[in-house]
Amino acid sequence: MSWTPPPLDTKRLHLRPQPIASQEKARGSNSLPNRRLGLPSNWQIFHKATDKAIGFVGFIRWERDTGCAEIGFWLERAHRGQGLMAEALRSVLAFGFNRMGLDRIEALCQPSNPASERVLSRIGMQREGIVRGHLHAKAEPETFHLYAITRADWLRTG
Ligand SMILES: CC(C)(COP(=O)(O)OP(=O)(O)OC[C@H]1O[C@@H](n2cnc3c(N)ncnc32)[C@H](O)[C@@H]1OP(=O)(O)O)[C@@H](O)C(=O)NCCC(=O)NCCS
Repeated sequence: MSWTPPPLDTKRLHLRPQPIASQEKARGSNSLPNRRLGLPSNWQIFHKATDKAIGFVGFIRWERDTGCAEIGFWLERAHRGQGLMAEALRSVLAFGFNRMGLDRIEALCQPSNPASERVLSRIGMQREGIVRGHLHAKAEPETFHLYAITRADWLRTG
């Protein structure tokens, strides 16, 4: 399924839609094809100060019948630790709830990834549990922490 979101703007970032073919190239052969995950599309992140691409953010799974989607994200090392991903993710959550009509947004992160867990907490997602033996971005099943934010959470805190 092909779906192209509009560009989004935040205080420090431009989020520009990234074509699905270049996403697959960037992810490499050791990852699942996006279409198998039901990936609609995602955004490349550009820093407004330089207009250079510094990462990506997007919905890596979208279950239209249940109104649930999952986010994925990555930032170049040199740009970490400045709150940039939290800034990008807030605008993606707003887009998901306001424009895609989602009722629930999930994220899966490896237990050994405290920076990711910290970002997810900061944007209002709650840790709900552990998902074991899950086939995700890599070819081998892994264990993940499941985070989520519901529309009700978003309206209460957003
Ligand atoms: C996860 C990631 C996107 C975070 O982006 P970021 O813009 O650096 O996030 P922030 O600047 O908001 O910083 C993250 C927070 O984690 C904290 N943190 C970073 N490394 C940490 C560590 N090893 N242990 C504990 N906390 C850590 C930071 O201090 C910061 O805390 P704060 O919110 O109190 O300031 C980035 O590290 C990344 O791209 N990692 C590789 C890809 C990845 O893991 N993607 C997520 C898959 S689920």
